[in-house]
Amino acid sequence: MVEGARPRPMAGREQPTRAEALRQPRLHVATHPLIAVQLTLLRATETAPSRFRELLGELTTLVGYEALAGLALAERPIVTPLEPMIGVKVAQPIAIVPIMRAGLAMVEPLLRLLPEARVWHLGLYRDEETLRPVPYYNRAMRSGQAAHCIVVDPMLATGGSAVSAVDLVKEVGAERITYIGIVAAPYGVAQLTEAHPDVEIYVAALDRELNEQGYICPGLGDAGDRVFHTGE
Ligand code: PRP
Ligand code: URA
Repeated sequence: MVEGARPRPMAGREQPTRAEALRQPRLHVATHPLIAVQLTLLRATETAPSRFRELLGELTTLVGYEALAGLALAERPIVTPLEPMIGVKVAQPIAIVPIMRAGLAMVEPLLRLLPEARVWHLGLYRDEETLRPVPYYNRAMRSGQAAHCIVVDPMLATGGSAVSAVDLVKEVGAERITYIGIVAAPYGVAQLTEAHPDVEIYVAALDRELNEQGYICPGLGDAGDRVFHTGE
């Protein structure tokens, strides 16, 4: 590489349009007006890291609420102060799988909805020249412990990180996999659905495209840097 030149790993790669990505039956893009309002604040450059974390947490709760609407339930008999009744409980053991770093900010809001879930941390970063995910941390995934895995990461860009995460949770026997993100690009949706057509994808927004460096446009920039106040 010429010194000072920025790598252009997306140059020449064909990208699907939004309309093409929206044809994927397992892609669910939020339509709730409050999600659109919160996401606008999240994207804005002037939003400081502390507010960015709060907004990301609130958006995770809102998108998560929709993503968990089809949660498998089992009967749970209880007694109210007036009489016995058959209530419900979450039927399957669940693991939340945050892709570090930015996915970490999505864990607490989901644990509030699913207090008994396990958390399996997964460290992946994108090589900026190839955009391929580089694994650096994989903690506590155990075969048979979670029938339903929820992979969380705010950004679905090329889809490389999400595909690797899903590969790993399938290796440990997940029967059902949900991906919860905030902003997706059509390219990442196509890559994830091609590699793993069984994964349900829930996001707050589907943006236009990736730029030549693999950033989502209009997007929100580098999510990890904005959560943890690193970078420029
Ligand atoms: C970002 C983001 C995703 C990944 C998405 O992480 O949080 O994990 O990029 O890109 P992809 O769909 O092209 O794989 P990054 O690699 O920048 O690591 P960081 O969170 O540690 O900054
Ligand atoms: N990762 C990010 O944090 N932002 C993007 O736009 C793409 C990948």
